[in-house]
Amino acid sequence: MLINNWYVAATSDEVTDKPHRTRMVGVDFVLFRDESETLYCLSDVCCHRGGALHRGEVVGGCIACPYHGWEFNGEGQCVKIPAMGDDISIPKRARIDSYPIEERMGLIWVFVGDQAEADRPEIPDWFQPYLDNPEWRVSRYNYEWTDCNWERLCENSLDTSHPSFVHKRFGSRISPKATIVPIEHTEHGAKVTRERAAPAASQKRGAIADLLPKDRKTTRVSVEWSMIANAEMLFQEMTTEITQVLFSVRTPVDDTTVRSYGFQARNFLKEPEHDADRIEGLFEAVKEDHDIVRLLKPKHTVTSNAREMLIESDGMELAFRNKVAEWRNLGRYVDGDALERDGKREVFVVPSPARAVDPKGWVHQTVPLIASNAAVAEAAE
Ligand code: FES
Ligand SMILES: [Fe+2]
Repeated sequence: MLINNWYVAATSDEVTDKPHRTRMVGVDFVLFRDESETLYCLSDVCCHRGGALHRGEVVGGCIACPYHGWEFNGEGQCVKIPAMGDDISIPKRARIDSYPIEERMGLIWVFVGDQAEADRPEIPDWFQPYLDNPEWRVSRYNYEWTDCNWERLCENSLDTSHPSFVHKRFGSRISPKATIVPIEHTEHGAKVTRERAAPAASQKRGAIADLLPKDRKTTRVSVEWSMIANAEMLFQEMTTEITQVLFSVRTPVDDTTVRSYGFQARNFLKEPEHDADRIEGLFEAVKEDHDIVRLLKPKHTVTSNAREMLIESDGMELAFRNKVAEWRNLGRYVDGDALERDGKREVFVVPSPARAVDPKGWVHQTVPLIASNAAVAEAAE
């Protein structure tokens, strides 16, 4: 799990007038809106004696802890300690971490890290042009990948040779040989376009089966992925006129759970009565992937590529691994084992931007990170 990244914390409609708990990178956060609907994201753990803030109430734009009523404003500073009365000056250390937050595409994006605004990457809101666009009919979905590691899951969706074997509706075993085409590396990820044999007409069902030409030979799939929010955009050009666009972001909840937030746009069968059928088809494919990924061994991506036998068609997965390694070397990779082991007696929080400016005087520790190679070399000198 990586910090200093944007992740989707919830959908907009999940955060109403009540605080909402969300878990990301193995840590709990609370989201709430004040009276003017301004959104905030704080660490969910009260710095007094560990109360779960999401069980508290929003009072005058602050969140009040359910245990002893301490009130924290949107910046995470405590502004009221009821047991000490009104005439005290609140110690600065009575504060918790507060995180940058944005609402776009009906999703709540939180910057999980301590980078200053100027250094933060852009939110990958690539799907925006498809929303409210009469050319496209859009359906949304959310899915929780239980018992799956986020890296294994991301690798699976970048793997363009598995559909022939895993997906009964859009895979084809007629010609599973992958065409090797160059991968384009982007600032935060990679993209590739591949043609592959179209599934047999008999594999399709429902209205799309009647729509597609029976003698269709190939289908064109382009995939672009970014480490930012673990975003992925997939274009499935079934014919030159019939295209489906899938966009999803994946939030690591903890080491073995991932939440995805997705959109499906289509330029065919645009009438609302086809929505249920299209989403049902998508969930069928999601479940096929889930069944493969949850049983992979080891559960997490291997620590060395030599412990698996990668071939040329695994290029996108390799690009993903290299990008994760790059981020690990920047000191952004959460040590999930230490978090789980020591988390029973310690509260760990993700460092927020306020810590980078003012690192002293915080009650809670920051999440253990796997030391970068550079830092290890420096310590050894
Ligand atoms: S634990 Fe939150 S006010 Fe005491
Ligand atoms: Fe798949």
